[in-house]
Amino acid sequence: MSRLVVVSNRVAMPHAHRAGGLAVAMRAALKESGGLWFGWSGKRVHGDSGELHKLDDGNTSYCTMDLSFEDFDHYYNGFANRTLWPLLHFRLDLVDYRRDTHEGYRRVNALFAEKLASQLREDDIVWVHDYHLIPLAQRLRDLGVGNRIGFFLHVPMPSSDLLAALPNHEVLFGSLAAYDLIGFQTERDLDRFQSYVRLYGGGRAFADGRMRAADGREFRAGAFPISIDADLIARQASAAVTRASVQRLRESLGSRVLAIGVDRLDYSKGLPDRFRAFERFLDRFPEIHGQMTYLQLAPVSRSEVPEYQALRRELEGLAGHINGRHAAPDWTPVRYVNRDFSHGVLTGFYRLAQLGLVTPLRDGMNLVAKEFVASQDPQSPGVLVLSRFAGAAAEMKEALLVNPYDLDGVADAIAHAHAMPMEERKERWHALHRRLRRHDITLWRRKFLEALEA
Ligand code: G6P
Repeated sequence: MSRLVVVSNRVAMPHAHRAGGLAVAMRAALKESGGLWFGWSGKRVHGDSGELHKLDDGNTSYCTMDLSFEDFDHYYNGFANRTLWPLLHFRLDLVDYRRDTHEGYRRVNALFAEKLASQLREDDIVWVHDYHLIPLAQRLRDLGVGNRIGFFLHVPMPSSDLLAALPNHEVLFGSLAAYDLIGFQTERDLDRFQSYVRLYGGGRAFADGRMRAADGREFRAGAFPISIDADLIARQASAAVTRASVQRLRESLGSRVLAIGVDRLDYSKGLPDRFRAFERFLDRFPEIHGQMTYLQLAPVSRSEVPEYQALRRELEGLAGHINGRHAAPDWTPVRYVNRDFSHGVLTGFYRLAQLGLVTPLRDGMNLVAKEFVASQDPQSPGVLVLSRFAGAAAEMKEALLVNPYDLDGVADAIAHAHAMPMEERKERWHALHRRLRRHDITLWRRKFLEALEA
């Protein structure tokens, strides 16, 4: 069996206890074959990028690299998060393109390639993750690396005309052809990539998943929807109800219904629209006032990026406005919290909730939607209100699917979920849960790796 090498911007070190589902899945994959996880160390240094840190844990090694303040600013805050992130989430209006950050992104990818190449063995299989590292395979090929290299895009692949708005898009997206296999979250993402390659890349896409770039290089692309470990989350959720923070939340609710949203504080998550839709719901259904509390957890993310700072101010204004208009001395409709909670506690919160609000404007998959379902008590499962523009919607038809831009539609869905008879809640939940257990995260990584090795 070949050794597996995982490459991603962030590396979940072996004993980091806030690790999410993906980190756990990657560790399990690495353990199976023995392997190496390579990425940024999480450290910014004065001086040059490139110092490596190594740590061995059983049959898995972790190798991470420091970045200089300037490289980090150009590569991560700049090109990855002010150019690619909005572009890939269909937000041309927020794209900020600059030559110097693009150059920094290229420089950091070249440095990742150089340092990684020195760690590689001949028959290693390499699996690269996400938009921070699109050109990595091309840079590795330039150094003579002939290994199998796969790429998985965790975020959406937008329409080809949007991609084409990026200066020098041919060079960046053309470099994807240096991978052997490219994985997307959904068939729609795959379709849009194939159209891009045909319309703008001068290449071809065949029905069996093979693709050919303009220069003749062949590679493959497929849809591999990411998932969760549903059984593990169910166990965590039922254990979490005894935790102090979960009990305190329960007591604070009294007999009120809990609606919950959990999202990184990111404009792709549609939080201002969700707040406005909840306000619309309060305006239109005064009879439920005092009967429902909406808890929005929104841990701060990418706080050095101006668009994220502006979003934070907007949400603070909206939460204050809605509560100011609708709260009573003994009832606060919106509880807005920026603090971060451990994964275990979150599953306990999900289990307390009768409504899960997951309404991103665009999302690659959205694992909160899946974790919310997996955390429910089968005797009284909550209802998921889910945006059609989350990748998860393709597999979760029994949720209440909404258009997040349609405030009245979202308000109706909240009212529908609030009034839904238990029998219907159970039917919808069982269908969702069955599918989650069949398509879990272990199946996801096995399918991707099998396809890469084939
Ligand atoms: C998304 C991306 C990931 C990223 C995560 C957190 O899920 O697809 O690649 O790691 O957001 O964002 P951050 O910028 O904190 O790594």
